[in-house]
Amino acid sequence: MHPSSSLATQLQSALASRDERWIRRRLPDPHTSSPSSPLIDFNSNDYLSLARSPHLRSRFLHKLAHAPQVLGSGGSRLLVNGHAHSNLESRLAGFFRAGAALLFNSGFDANAGLFACVPQPRDVLVLDEHVHASVHDGVRASRVPRAARRVFAHNEVADLRRVLAELVAEDGGRDGGLRSGERSVFVAVESLYSMDGTFAPLVEIVEVLEEVFPARNGYLIVDEAHATGLYGPQGRGRVAELGLEDRVLARLHTFGKALAATGAVILTNTLIRDYLLNYARPLIYTTSLSYANIIAADCSFDMLCDGTAEEVCKPRLLPISHLYLLTQITSTQQLSRALLDLSTHFTTYLHPRLALAHIPKRLLSLPEHLTPPSHSHTRAPAPSPIIPLMTAHPRPLSAYLLALGMNARPITWPTVPKGRDRVRVCLHAANTREEVERLAEGAVRWAEEVLRAERRGAGGAGEGVWERERESKL
Ligand SMILES: Cc1ncc(COP(=O)(O)O)c(C=O)c1O
Repeated sequence: MHPSSSLATQLQSALASRDERWIRRRLPDPHTSSPSSPLIDFNSNDYLSLARSPHLRSRFLHKLAHAPQVLGSGGSRLLVNGHAHSNLESRLAGFFRAGAALLFNSGFDANAGLFACVPQPRDVLVLDEHVHASVHDGVRASRVPRAARRVFAHNEVADLRRVLAELVAEDGGRDGGLRSGERSVFVAVESLYSMDGTFAPLVEIVEVLEEVFPARNGYLIVDEAHATGLYGPQGRGRVAELGLEDRVLARLHTFGKALAATGAVILTNTLIRDYLLNYARPLIYTTSLSYANIIAADCSFDMLCDGTAEEVCKPRLLPISHLYLLTQITSTQQLSRALLDLSTHFTTYLHPRLALAHIPKRLLSLPEHLTPPSHSHTRAPAPSPIIPLMTAHPRPLSAYLLALGMNARPITWPTVPKGRDRVRVCLHAANTREEVERLAEGAVRWAEEVLRAERRGAGGAGEGVWERERESKL
């Protein structure tokens, strides 16, 4: 491509525009992700720290050494259906108590494939406004017309009810069939939202769907990407935790976050599985996961299964240190409990410090759902490993933390809605209390410095901090 070609000019100007708006995406420095990095990881989705677990590593290497096939996979599942793939699917259908399981190369492919093909041309799609980009891509590729794609306010069951009631009210004439059940409504949610750390009110959503569509043509699809391994019995997710397996149409579990592998599985019934095998393009026209990858995922599920023994579910007796966790604890239940305890510790440590320092919300705050309830009878929110530090200046805050040896990434529009910028903190089982306290103190100190600079009239969110960001090439 010639650098002065029309194409090059258009691409460059789009990137330059992103530069100007401070939203240009760049790959982080690989050093920040290497195991030898001195940075404290508040960034990766390795929630249970399994990617660093010596137990998982040796289990994986052992299985790899004894597996009949480890390299490649030979082609699309439709051409080469390896025993390892098929066995893992049977195992997962049993483990998750589902009618059928179908592997995909990634969670993105699974959502994109499912939403593109399963809804029929006269059906309706209703999405929580915060669902993942992969669902949106699937919806865009689907045969459902734009007018039949709706969004409801994040986690607002009342708004979902309003949207569904509107659909039913509009249901008449040529488009009739929602009431009779001839047309279907698909509702897409995440059980734990990736950017906010909020939990979908799954029971209420299922109840509304069943109430508004008594013909049982309202179908819930739950993305459990971030809940996998952390919630529910044996880490089987929130649908399992709430006993909703038979009341949702499909669940997505991914292997790339808490499970330290890559790939994903859709859990559904055999009819939908067969349909996906015939129509889901991201499944049909791609080489399936390599054998080595299947073995890695299988080993992670071994860990989840092993973690069920009652004796390892007893409350912890020992203070958990980083080293202890990585070398001694093999139970994923213990890891997830340690992780969620850490999350509670972080928010309860940070909140009073923000208040004490009188940090204005625009500079730094916890989101509403993590603000402690004002009435003692209100239940505290369940902890999650995802904690957004809301700030209008996510890049300077992230750069400041980086300079203090902590890696927590800025997230801006278009990944999150405008005005909802944040530094997304991801906690891990192997993070220590001292580390999260350092993080909280670092963030508060940054906000105090910016406040002081503002009072001196020295440049908004702290010119010095912006400079530091540029230097660190975030
Ligand atoms: C909610 C959600 N669903 C799906 C995906 C895609 O999963 P994968 O990383 O396996 O492609 C992600 C990944 O970021 C996600 O956050």
